[in-house]
Amino acid sequence: MNFQKHILVTGGAGFIGSHVVRRLVKNYPDYLVVNLDKLTYAGNLENLQDIDQASNYRFERADICDAAALKRIFESHQITDVIHLAAESHVDRSIEGPMEFVMTNVVGTVQLLQAARAAWGKESGHVFHHVSTDEVYGSLGDTGLFEETTPYDPRSPYSASKASSDHFVRAYYHTYGLPIKMSNCSNNYGSHHFPEKLIPLMIHNIINEKPLPVYGKGDNIRDWLWVEDHASAIDTIFHKGRLGESYNVGGLNEWTNIELVHFLCQLMDDKLGRAAGSAAGLITYVQDRAGHDKRYAIDATKLETELGWKPSITFEQGLNNTVDWYLNNQDWVAKVTSGAYQTYYEQMYANR
Ligand code: NAD
Ligand code: DAU
Repeated sequence: MNFQKHILVTGGAGFIGSHVVRRLVKNYPDYLVVNLDKLTYAGNLENLQDIDQASNYRFERADICDAAALKRIFESHQITDVIHLAAESHVDRSIEGPMEFVMTNVVGTVQLLQAARAAWGKESGHVFHHVSTDEVYGSLGDTGLFEETTPYDPRSPYSASKASSDHFVRAYYHTYGLPIKMSNCSNNYGSHHFPEKLIPLMIHNIINEKPLPVYGKGDNIRDWLWVEDHASAIDTIFHKGRLGESYNVGGLNEWTNIELVHFLCQLMDDKLGRAAGSAAGLITYVQDRAGHDKRYAIDATKLETELGWKPSITFEQGLNNTVDWYLNNQDWVAKVTSGAYQTYYEQMYANR
């Protein structure tokens, strides 16, 4: 079959990447979707079991830092477009060990830019969509929202590495004319989220009646978006966004961490048939994250007014779906929490 586009999705076995791959494979049968993933602790091919036999899906296990592998993959699949999600994504891990973040997020992104540039030259019609984070903007006070024009001010090794990758992507647009687009999204939640991040960790620990570690006073604020709404935003920006532009993605949904944990506790006491207050009794205040950003909040007006995107569901609906998914997929949780994650978990949380 002749495909209209041959899209390389990097990090497609991870949390957000698997939702993007599934959406593209299902909604665009005339696109070939090539999932390139190193399969680190965060990448799991079971995330894609429902679509991995589709005729428009391929998988390549590779490291984005490996220039020879990238060249082979661009050539053998005649890649026309890239949606780049592969990254080390967890802030706490970046504090423990920044170098892997520099390698994958900075060096890997530049290798990918080089591969696209070498494959496409000055040809028109291609798109390199770089998926990034609101954390590049730093930390907000009590008021205001991150806009696309907010100056970069990253505070953690993770956000510094993502900011650096964003700068390289823009540099390739200005210097070499590479056809790039960028998106900077707020905190995602949903199914297939590795249980080291706040929401899936709390769900996992509530189910298992383990302590719920809340950093500091729990008054840091995050702006939460359902992962499938992020995938729909990426779809919209990839197809309709202007070259050289970046778009903020978010749903105006701010919660302090402690409010969010209490909300989850109530929801899960109900679902698990436990007495009211059972889960909240597990809340344990622990040492704060070093350099903990106080507040993130996204202004997505540009994406909404220019490209017509908006979130599809409320936080209550999304969280309800997410908790149900974890309760129905404990085998997935058991699989990804074995091995490397378990060791990390014990080191990071056991003594808190
Ligand atoms: P994730 O950690 O769940 O998945 C990352 C994926 O990248 C994994 O499948 C992993 O195996 C793969 N990977 C890591 N290093 C690689 C390498 N060197 N070569 C090839 N593959 C590699 O991450 P996520 O939460 O799905 O985030 C995806 C992207 O979206 C990241 O770029 C992240 O910065 C960005 N983002 C995430 C959020 C969020 O809330 N999770 C919000 C905004 C932006
Ligand atoms: O804003 C987008 C970013 O959101 C993404 O770029 C990152 O890849 C993603 O991991 C996420 O970063 P955060 O650091 O905001 O997410 P995390 O789930 O690690 O933490 C959310 C908040 O909860 C944060 O204020 C720290 C706090 N926290 C986290 C954990 C894991 C706790 O209080 N206890 C915990 O155990």
